[in-house]
Amino acid sequence: MENKFKRTLVTCALPYANGPVHIGHLAGVYVPADIYVRYLRMRGREVLYVCGSDEHGVPITIKARQQGCTPQDIVDRYHGIIKDSFEGLGIHFDIYGRTSSEVHAKNASGFFRKLYEDGKFITKESEQYYDPEAKTFLADRYIVGTCPKCGNEGAYGDQCEKCGSTLSPEELINPHSKLSGATPVKKKTTHWYLPLQDYEQWLREWILEGHQEWRSNVYGQVKSWLDGGLQPRAVTRDLDWGVPVPVEGAEGKVLYVWFDAPIGYISNTQELLPDSWEKWWKSPDTRLVHFIGKDNIVFHCIVFPAMLKAYGDGYILPDNVPANEFLNLEGDKISTSRGWAVWAHEYLKDFPGKEDVLRYVLTANAPETKDNDFSWKDFQQRNNSELVAIFGNFVNRAMVLTHKYFGGKVPACGALEDIDKEALAQIPVLKASMEKNIEEFKFREALKDAMGIARVGNKYISDSEPWKVAKTDLDRTGTILNISLQICADLAIAFEPFTPFAAKRLRDMLGSGLDWEVLGRPQILPAGHQLGAAELLFAKIEDDAIDAQLARLDRIRAEREAAAKAEAAKLVAPQKAECTFDEFEKMDIRTATVLEAERVPKTDKLLKLTIDTGIDRRVIVSGIAEYYTPEAMVGKQICILANLQPRTIRGIESHGMILMAKQGDGSMRFITPQEAVSNGAIVG
Ligand code: 2FM
Ligand code: ZN
Repeated sequence: MENKFKRTLVTCALPYANGPVHIGHLAGVYVPADIYVRYLRMRGREVLYVCGSDEHGVPITIKARQQGCTPQDIVDRYHGIIKDSFEGLGIHFDIYGRTSSEVHAKNASGFFRKLYEDGKFITKESEQYYDPEAKTFLADRYIVGTCPKCGNEGAYGDQCEKCGSTLSPEELINPHSKLSGATPVKKKTTHWYLPLQDYEQWLREWILEGHQEWRSNVYGQVKSWLDGGLQPRAVTRDLDWGVPVPVEGAEGKVLYVWFDAPIGYISNTQELLPDSWEKWWKSPDTRLVHFIGKDNIVFHCIVFPAMLKAYGDGYILPDNVPANEFLNLEGDKISTSRGWAVWAHEYLKDFPGKEDVLRYVLTANAPETKDNDFSWKDFQQRNNSELVAIFGNFVNRAMVLTHKYFGGKVPACGALEDIDKEALAQIPVLKASMEKNIEEFKFREALKDAMGIARVGNKYISDSEPWKVAKTDLDRTGTILNISLQICADLAIAFEPFTPFAAKRLRDMLGSGLDWEVLGRPQILPAGHQLGAAELLFAKIEDDAIDAQLARLDRIRAEREAAAKAEAAKLVAPQKAECTFDEFEKMDIRTATVLEAERVPKTDKLLKLTIDTGIDRRVIVSGIAEYYTPEAMVGKQICILANLQPRTIRGIESHGMILMAKQGDGSMRFITPQEAVSNGAIVG
């Protein structure tokens, strides 16, 4: 495929600058893209690697309001954090730009204007929500109210984050503006739309017929969008943060973030290469590859291509869009707003020198064909039993033994035995498989191939036991170590795309520049070549480091559960119908003490309590076992309804009822006098 092309332009989804990046972003987009780019570069291909921050959109304005600062402050802060995280993980873009830059404003604005002047848009008037006090239109996110499905009072006009329902502002009960608290009113507004339906046939031919090699998740999503019929898409918004719509009559309107963000790829290229950017965007010799997450598929496969097609002027279209599925964390969906994530910048602080481990685990577990899970135990296990025990251990044995027996010089290779030939023969096979897998964006498989080389080496050195052979035959020991060192050199090449830090350390130890082309060739390291000092490539990760991460997640989970409970408990049952004083007086409520408590056999909810009521000792069966153990009840002072008609529950006669406070989430607590009182005291 790539023979058709002279160069490759790789873009990575521009992350929103309203929060740091987390492992889901890394696994979905940036680590695979980085592997791909490093591989292409190793192979001497011409590549441009473009990314940057996506600095517009409503969530950024909301965050700014919450924090009492400007949207620019927010994006300045996160742009820096995100950029540093990528650098820290060895992800070096040729440019990491920003959509709040002047170059971008000019470019996105010009892009819109040309489409406008060429008559590519339609305008539509519609009714949208408006805040009469703040005098501004409201994006759905700016409207809050009670969720009709779960009663959450803080649901947004587009979604309830508590029950996950997708909503529209019309469905909210008691909708109000997040800005002023006023009730939103509908007001007419005009926007520009790209009539996507006009591009449907062309998209079908280009993707459904022309790109059947695309990943099935990408192809399938595109097909279902096209089969569902495309609609005009608004490309402008009523908002005060973004690129102003550059036409008359558009005051107070900006380009929709999903219109300007993909243009950001072009702007960032222009910023880097003001004189030669067109070669990357307008030459049929350039292969464009977009790395994205699955939630971005429609924008990169339908909307942006339609924009480029509408623009014309020789813009190329993506040749492939390898979108990944999502990564979960310890079995739960990663969520920035709920804090359920492993943040890249925190990882770098918590695990200094272990950049490769994260890259390795996220690739070994990459959500390429389905959603996958990241767990800290798996992270530890992959480090300790794969990177340390196989790759690191093999390299260390080869290096240390060469220093011990041959003063750190690559020994000569004598006649090859079968075991040597068998080991060496596997390397070119693994190399070819790795190449095919990377070219097809199957990075998990490619990593297995690279690890396969380490496994071959580790097994070879274990089986051929040079430390034993050295006692009787130093020539043969030399041959074994020569072969082992050649495999170490293969590893330094093969792992460069995946674990670039370790690959560099290994190259430094081997003291040799190593090109992709020599991988698997005989005698990459010539006999007599002086090696550097032996250094450990990877270190074990101990339980305490993992326990600290798990404890952090436990805390987040507990806080989340407590907040959810508190929220649910806030739901107060409506007041019951009136009762007379006489009716109330009929109830004999009094204090009592629990003397004995036991579970009622074969039930989950019932406790049998023997209590001292001050007037007698009696048994009450109560449905509180979900909230209290028998031991927790003994000795407690409670309130009871003493004159409730006796009832037989599960064969036990119950004389009265324990008074409980039942909260909105259904949970119950018994009522107890604030200070000890005598049993039988009348409550009322
Ligand atoms: O989903 C996201 O994080 C978007 N900010 C991606 C934008 S990709 C491109 F179009 F800029
Ligand atoms: Zn809800």
